Amino acid sequence: MSEARSKKIADEVAKRRTFAIISHPDAGKTTITEKVLLHGQQIQKAGTVKGKKSGQHAKSDWMEMEQERGISVTTSVMQFPYRDRLVNLLDTPGHEDFSEDTYRTLTAVDSCLMVIDGAKGVEDRTIKLMEVTRLRDTPIITFMNKLDRDIRDPLELLDEVEDVLKIMCAPITWPIGSGKNFKGVYHLLNDETVLYKTGQGHRIQEVDVIKGLDNPELDERLGVWAEELREQIELVKGASNEFDKELFLAGELTPVYFGTALGNFGVDHMLDGLVDWAPQPQPRETNEGELVSADNSDFSGFIFKIQANMDPRHRDRVAFLRIVSGKYEKGMKMRQVRTGKDVRISDALTFLAGDREHVEEAYPGDIIGLHNHGTIQIGDTFTANADFKFSGIPNFAPELFRRIRLKDPLKQKQLLKGLVQLSEEGAVQVFRPLISNDLIVGAVGVLQFDVVVHRLRTEYKVDAMYENINVATARWVTGDERKVDEFRRKAEANLALDGGDNLSYIAPTMVNLSLAQERYPDITFSHTREH
Ligand code: G4P
Repeated sequence: MSEARSKKIADEVAKRRTFAIISHPDAGKTTITEKVLLHGQQIQKAGTVKGKKSGQHAKSDWMEMEQERGISVTTSVMQFPYRDRLVNLLDTPGHEDFSEDTYRTLTAVDSCLMVIDGAKGVEDRTIKLMEVTRLRDTPIITFMNKLDRDIRDPLELLDEVEDVLKIMCAPITWPIGSGKNFKGVYHLLNDETVLYKTGQGHRIQEVDVIKGLDNPELDERLGVWAEELREQIELVKGASNEFDKELFLAGELTPVYFGTALGNFGVDHMLDGLVDWAPQPQPRETNEGELVSADNSDFSGFIFKIQANMDPRHRDRVAFLRIVSGKYEKGMKMRQVRTGKDVRISDALTFLAGDREHVEEAYPGDIIGLHNHGTIQIGDTFTANADFKFSGIPNFAPELFRRIRLKDPLKQKQLLKGLVQLSEEGAVQVFRPLISNDLIVGAVGVLQFDVVVHRLRTEYKVDAMYENINVATARWVTGDERKVDEFRRKAEANLALDGGDNLSYIAPTMVNLSLAQERYPDITFSHTREH
């Protein structure tokens, strides 16, 4: 491997930041995504960051592009330049189509932006998503949104984040008023006040900055709010944590920004924090317990998501691969470790600001899309020619269960085949109880059920329907072989095999689960299972 090539890879790695947004529906994820892209696009247009060879920098403005082509900003992966960095934003489906995809996407990022509605504070979905980020201690940046509305007391919001989400807060900016009285924010680290202007939602704001808290200009511009700001900042400095990069990188402290996504104010402060502090592409662990670091010059990556029907004319499915190390080059050969096959990839997709197009090269932290004709599964590792696999791409215990039944009972075999394949792909989970012929489908989000019936019909030609079933939760069970055998005999009525033949405990109630856990202390009941 030439030194020049290694250096090139290290430089590209240092430039990249790969993150996802976590939030409760309606907190403003879509809006903030739009504004983030607006910032990226503008900077690209201004030419401070060169576009890639294919000339993306000549592209029209993002908003126009979206209207012209009807591309939604919620494309799965978006890449954009910001300052001298290249940012990859991975979308986590919000709303109804909340599913395991969301969880797994969080395993493919190096940091997360948590968006909170300032009027509402910490909400359920955010709590759940934060739990997932804890599996890898992912660093979190927080944006308190909707400051153009009346929000709750900012100090109280920080307390709530600390109490409920168990993460320390370090405010980086502090709001001056909110709602009709929203005047702007004071940047604690830069010691400057940035004034808010309304009506700038669709462009990059011209910033009006007042340096220093004692500056008399502050009184001129803010009137009574200036004195109140000084008092508040004194209080805030006493009552909150200072930013500490190490604690941030360990996932123990979050820098907090205030702003309004709709008014496009404060988003750039947050982006500055992201590119300055969020980690560059991080190493990943293999099943042999080794770490593969991003600047290792041999290519490697893993599949964290498979998306069907991105192009409805083809039955094309795209497998999303997060590059862990090395470099992807068009036409290169890579090894799919699970099958041991070497495949030549010449048409991987990239996602520069919502545009699906073919990549010439890509680096660690980037996501590339591989066309999948049913041979790629979630959790698959691809390498240059090594045989290790990445660990840490989990299945999450489903929370919703239905019994699935055929309309035509003769098609039982196809149904099982379809379900097993869909579960390998991560679309859903399937459980076969040891003592019956039932097929139980488990999902994390309700929409997964509809998707499965639809795909069974179109791809496997079986008509299936659901019935309710009395299952509250499932856990994967492991332990010493003898103990597991004994457990298998005694608890048979509650045991099932999942799509990969892993033994699982199916609990009719949460109480039943805790009783089983008490009764069988030698058995491990796991909430997640690795692919
Ligand atoms: P989501 O993806 O997290 O679900 O949230 P989304 O961005 O769609 O925002 C949800 C609603 O909140 C939208 O209003 C959006 O305009 C609004 N919103 C987002 N950021 C701000 C903000 O900073 N201030 C205010 N006042 N509102 C904000 P909607 O009425 O549901 O949709 P729309 O008709 O406006 O698109």
